[in-house]
Amino acid sequence: AAAAKFTRALPILGTQKPLARTSTTDVYASRIVDTTAEILPGVRSTVRTYDGSFSGTVVRATRGRRVLMVQTNKTSDPSSVHLHGGVTPQRWDGGGMAVIAPGKSKEYVYANTQPGATLWQHDHVHHAHAENVFRGLARPYLLHDPAQDALNLPSGEYDVPLVLRDARFDSDGQLAYVMDDAEGRSTILVNGVPWPVMKVKARRYRLRFINAANLRFFVMALSTGTPFTQIGGDGGLLPAPWQAPVIAISPGERAEVVVDFSAYPKGTVLTLDNYIGPGPMEDVGKVMAFEVGDPAPDTSTVPASLAPLPALKPAAVRRRFELAMDEPGSGGMAATINGLAFDHDRIDTTVPWGSTEEWTVVNTNATLPHNFHTHLVPFRVLSRDGKPVGLDESGLKDTVQIFPGQTVVLRLTFDSHRGVYPYHCHMLDHSDMGMMAQMKVV
Ligand code: C2O
Ligand code: CU
Repeated sequence: AAAAKFTRALPILGTQKPLARTSTTDVYASRIVDTTAEILPGVRSTVRTYDGSFSGTVVRATRGRRVLMVQTNKTSDPSSVHLHGGVTPQRWDGGGMAVIAPGKSKEYVYANTQPGATLWQHDHVHHAHAENVFRGLARPYLLHDPAQDALNLPSGEYDVPLVLRDARFDSDGQLAYVMDDAEGRSTILVNGVPWPVMKVKARRYRLRFINAANLRFFVMALSTGTPFTQIGGDGGLLPAPWQAPVIAISPGERAEVVVDFSAYPKGTVLTLDNYIGPGPMEDVGKVMAFEVGDPAPDTSTVPASLAPLPALKPAAVRRRFELAMDEPGSGGMAATINGLAFDHDRIDTTVPWGSTEEWTVVNTNATLPHNFHTHLVPFRVLSRDGKPVGLDESGLKDTVQIFPGQTVVLRLTFDSHRGVYPYHCHMLDHSDMGMMAQMKVV
């Protein structure tokens, strides 16, 4: 049951319907449920989903309105729901130990006071989040920001989330999770189906890429060589759009681009190509295709300035974090931060509320990439190997790529909630193997 490329239509993700809307709050009842989905043609694969949809229904939140979401776990395993990129009080942050037992429900409240951004929800249960996300527990959470409506970016049906990931299947077409196995996961899925084709009108689209893969990085370009107009990253809109020849996102990262398909005659097929392995490039080198159709009215714009960044505050404290993992072939499976594998009883870093810190994060591995994700606190990336980072990483970030041997310097201001939060490599297999630690904001 191998999948052909660019034959299946891209699923346009539905919107998760609130149960009720009060004057302040959107109320959702959400279910964590095992079901089946047709991922490979003609095969029903068992998947683990939010609300029955493997590709995910989209939660559409509005800045300034709360979301109250009751999650009921209908599976036979514990689960925990994390809003990735959300500035969330500890009790609703979906910590690894704050589990929803099978058959039980738990309430999550999201204030949505932060700037508009492409966030996503995914499982975070201790020692099994990699497998749960692989089985399907991930979905977009788009925080709409009324203050940004005047920018007149492409919206409505022309604002499309694209959830990228990869998968390994067994000979029966069932999802087969193998820990730390990037190469075997060489079927690329977009919105839950392999190598889809999206029929687009000849006009501008806002595309929101979410890298929901456990291990795979994507370095993507359009087959026409036309640059993307990148407008956003993890924490929302960039200060200004820029012409990005490639979009490079590691697991957990997001990138928002505008593509103007009116530049192409009807019938043109563009492919979205990927330039980074592992895996056979005839498979992992293709992500999806766009087939250009009829023109459609387009009054959208991409203004020259988008969203100003908050001022960088001076750092009072400097810390260093070393990410390390046994190299492939060494026989070991240990993964650490500063020499320690994760332990939920341990606080590794204590930070006074209100302070600004500079964190130097080093990938000590010679061959393995990592990345670094903080809960609660968006950060700015000041440098990589001593050089300022590019425009793609110039906005608010919550996840940053760190290739072998690289060092990044981050600036973080802890001025939202107090409490205990994790930071970890977002290659989820690595964090399940121990590359995770906890900070306490006091
Ligand atoms: Cu997206 Cu701690 O995770
Ligand atoms: Cu890692």
